[in-house]
Amino acid sequence: MGLKKNVLVTGGAGFIGSHLIDYLLSTNQYSITCIDNFDNFYAPFLKRLNIKPHLNNPDFTLIEADITDKDLYLKLDDHYDVIVHLAAKAGVRPSIQDPVLYQHVNVVGLQNILEIAKRKSVKQFVFGSSSSVYGVNPNYPWKESDTELMPVSPYASSKIAGEWIGKTYSRLYDMRFIALRFFTVFGPRQRPDLAINNFTRNILNDEPIDFFGGGNTLRDYTYIKDIVTGIVSAIQYHKTGFEIINLGNNKPVTLSHLVSTLEQILNKKAILNKLPEQQGDVSVTCADISKAKQLLSYNPQTKLEDGLKLFIDWTNKMAKSF
Ligand SMILES: NC(=O)c1ccc[n+]([C@@H]2O[C@H](COP(=O)([O-])OP(=O)(O)OC[C@H]3O[C@@H](n4cnc5c(N)ncnc54)[C@H](O)[C@@H]3O)[C@@H](O)[C@H]2O)c1
Repeated sequence: MGLKKNVLVTGGAGFIGSHLIDYLLSTNQYSITCIDNFDNFYAPFLKRLNIKPHLNNPDFTLIEADITDKDLYLKLDDHYDVIVHLAAKAGVRPSIQDPVLYQHVNVVGLQNILEIAKRKSVKQFVFGSSSSVYGVNPNYPWKESDTELMPVSPYASSKIAGEWIGKTYSRLYDMRFIALRFFTVFGPRQRPDLAINNFTRNILNDEPIDFFGGGNTLRDYTYIKDIVTGIVSAIQYHKTGFEIINLGNNKPVTLSHLVSTLEQILNKKAILNKLPEQQGDVSVTCADISKAKQLLSYNPQTKLEDGLKLFIDWTNKMAKSF
């Protein structure tokens, strides 16, 4: 037991966090503490379902708390080998409606968790950043070495701030900080606000889907299993003290292609509600993943169509269970 690595996962009941925890516990090599406040950005009961299988596992501890709570450290009595910080207000468009809240949770919240890391001398910190930091940068595929970030939403700028705050802590303290820039993650349990989940539900329910920007926007969809593999490599990475690494798929597809693939798998036509491009949205996301390949042996395996089938299987199972 003593040989297990203690990992603190914030936002561990969410989409990405719960998949990460499933994997780490399945290896029997990790003890997990999960912090989540089950916020109401989407239905908290979905998050409770995500972690339910682990509630009786002696290697799993759930702490219901807010990452912005200054006294949070009082609730954490263990030593942690690694912190994986995934708790955040996610979503580009809602950040334009409530930028102060996004700043508070994503920046002050991160800083609070970094202070806990400092107090507890945690040596390894993995941060869930986002492809949105590149914004409208036209130099595709996006490379981490491109310093010209052109964010177009408060969410994106909160993630840039997070990367810089992490860089500062890695310099000031003996703490490795790895920022992973995730590119539109999809798969079972995907956040209901994200396109694939929203489109699938609406097509199945004969409801129109909001089809923004004419269908030519490109997204580099990345399957959750590939993302988890990348995060696990970052947990184990032990070379340099600070890195920013893209975790994408390097195979962007158009919105029209996404919708037609969903139509084929569901064997049903979508009703399109055509709308202009939204403020905060970018027209292309595309990751250069050579750095992830080199540092993390990252090599995404899941094709869009296969990942969509797995997602739709899960959606059907969920629909039957209610
Ligand atoms: N899903 C994607 O495509 C994507 C892309 C880029 C970056 N990210 C980042 O990855 C991380 C995880 O995203 P996700 O898609 O799993 O989102 P999610 O909303 O499913 O998970 C986030 C979790 O954090 C929790 N949380 C929110 N505010 C909190 C607070 N104040 N205190 C404690 N817990 C809090 C939520 O309850 C939720 O369970 C986020 O940081 C997000 O910005 C996600």
